[in-house]
Parts: sequence; C-alpha cells; structure tokens
Amino acid sequence: MKIAIIGANGMLGADLCEILRGNKKFEVVPFYGPVSEGIGHRAKGIEQDKEVIIDITNQIETEAEIVKSKPDVIIHTAAYTDVDGCELNKEKAYLINSTGTQNVALAAKKSGAFLIYISTDYVFNGEGKRPYRENDTPDPMSIYGKTKLDGEKFVQNILEEWAIIRISWLFGKNGKNFIKAILNQMAKSQILKVVDDQIGSPTYTKDLSKGINYFIQKGCETGIYHLTNQGFCSWFEFAKKIVELTGNAGKITVEPINSLQLTRPAKRPHNSVLENYAWKSKGYPLLQNWEDALKEYLKEEKK
Ligand SMILES: NC(=O)c1ccc[n+]([C@@H]2O[C@H](COP(=O)([O-])OP(=O)(O)OC[C@H]3O[C@@H](n4cnc5c(N)ncnc54)[C@H](OP(=O)(O)O)[C@@H]3O)[C@@H](O)[C@H]2O)c1
Repeated sequence: MKIAIIGANGMLGADLCEILRGNKKFEVVPFYGPVSEGIGHRAKGIEQDKEVIIDITNQIETEAEIVKSKPDVIIHTAAYTDVDGCELNKEKAYLINSTGTQNVALAAKKSGAFLIYISTDYVFNGEGKRPYRENDTPDPMSIYGKTKLDGEKFVQNILEEWAIIRISWLFGKNGKNFIKAILNQMAKSQILKVVDDQIGSPTYTKDLSKGINYFIQKGCETGIYHLTNQGFCSWFEFAKKIVELTGNAGKITVEPINSLQLTRPAKRPHNSVLENYAWKSKGYPLLQNWEDALKEYLKEEKK
C-alpha cells in the first residue's frame, strides 16, 4: 500500500515517515514543502526512495504530483502552524491552511486516495466544561483555528473517503515545541512563569504516528477522530513535570500566571482537552498517558 505524507519534514510528518517506513506493508512517499525542500531529512542522512517537493497552494502542481505518485492513502500534515503568525498574516494562513487543503482534497479525489487530514483542538472555543467530543460544534477563536476548520469543511465536501484527525499540544524531536522552550528557559533562569488557565493533552508525535499506522492497517474508516495522549494538564503543570523529570525540582521554580499576562496576537482556548471518543468507540488502542510519553521523549532527546 502506498502512503503519501504531505509535510514530511514537519514535526509530525518526519516521525510519521519513520514509523510508517517501519511497516513492511507500506511504501512511503514523502512530499516536502517549498521552504525546506527536504533539506532536514537530507541533513539527517535519511535516504529517500522517492522525494517530491510541492507547494500545496499551487493547485496544478499539487494535483499533478499527487496523481503521478498514485497513493492509496494521503496523510496531509502540512500547514502554517504559527498560531500568532496566522493572526498577523491572515492571507498566508488562508492560502496554506484552507486553499492548500482544498487543493490536497481535490488531488485526493482525482487520484482516488483516502485522505487523512490532521486538524486541531483550536477549532473549538475552549469555553466547554468537559473534554470535547468529535460531534461538538466547532467555534474557532483564532485565524489559525478558522483556517484549519475551513480545511476540514473542504475535506468533507469534496471527498467521500476521508478522516479528520484532531490532535493537540504536539511535541516531537523534529520541531519547535513546548518542552524544548522550557528546557531552553531552564538553562537561562531559575524562575519560570507559565500559564495555568489553559488545559490540554500533550501529544507525542511518535505515539500519534503509531496510532495513524494502526488506523491505516485497520482499513481507514471515514469520520472525525480526536487522537491525543491520555490525561490532561495545564501548561504550568506540564512545565513542572518537565522540571521534575529532568531532576531540577529543587533548583528551578515554576510560577503560575494568567494568560492575560501574556500579550499574544492570537487567543487560545482555555479548555483544549479532546476526548478520544470515536477512536475508543471503534475499539482502537488509546495512546499512552502524556506523562509516560514525556518520559519517553526526554530519553529520546538525550540520545
Ligand atoms: N504543533 C501543534 O501543537 C499542533 C497542534 C494541533 C494540530 N496540529 C496540526 O498538526 C499538523 C502537523 O503539525 P506540525 O507541528 O508537525 O507542523 P510543522 O512542524 O510546522 O510542519 C508543517 C509542515 O508544513 C509544510 N508546509 C507549509 N507550507 C507548505 C506549503 N505551502 N506546501 C507544502 N508544504 C507546506 C512545511 O514544509 P517545509 O518545511 O518542508 O516547507 C512543514 O514541514 C498540522 O496540520 C497542524 O495544523 C499541530
């Protein structure tokens, strides 16, 4: 089975490539974006069997390259993921996240492939008092969330065979993430101030990639899925756990602050917790607890 991964150099895309390549039943075709042109992978010395660079905002190029590669499944991870950047560069955000996803969906239709679209907790407004289920009504409060929700609508309107997998608070070794930011701050300061009025489920790219591997092996059932590591915490609790697990509990103090104390262009949801309801209902294995995932990640980072 041929699997095309769009955004193969991204934090999730890179681990997806690695995990799916380990599955003998799959042939992986990575699609890189216009910025990296696959450079990250080449620098890491990962051999590519086939390597294609596409700009998903270019419909003709996207369709031509995807159709040519004849994938059975496409995993679309590419996005403009800078949440504050999206607020300041609205046109770019709509072009990549909304129009780009429309182009990928049209290409999937033309090539007869099943499309897995990676979406986000930011499609919800975060005012809910319980974890969000797949059929809760989205109401994004940021441009990033709006553009990703547009992408979801294109996928559902254009295709018959699709999955939308909403994820949250992603961390992985191949990208900028909260853990790296905290480790950097710990090197500079003994007091860290971290927001405690936003909660979510930190999610490890490796666990997510294993989940997606399982989903494809099971035959890809159309629908919306929430998929995250289990359990939840605030950013403050997440930071405290990083400090503790790196053996710095006595040396570094983490202080809680309110998100209003940070002036950032984009609003973030207070409640970002996604119940993995559809995933669980199908009997698919849940991802491990976020604390265990964090331990694994920190071990991996040390290597
Ligand atoms: N990070 C999070 O916390 C988080 C949370 C919830 C959901 N998500 C979603 O999860 C997915 C993966 O996120 P991530 O953090 O792994 O992303 P990332 O590291 O920022 O990578 C995104 C990738 O998108 C590619 N891309 C950007 N513009 C493109 C274009 N015009 N044409 C083709 N490719 C383009 C980039 O490719 P090049 O660099 O090769 O140009 C980049 O490698 C995204 O869809 C995101 O919305 C992320």
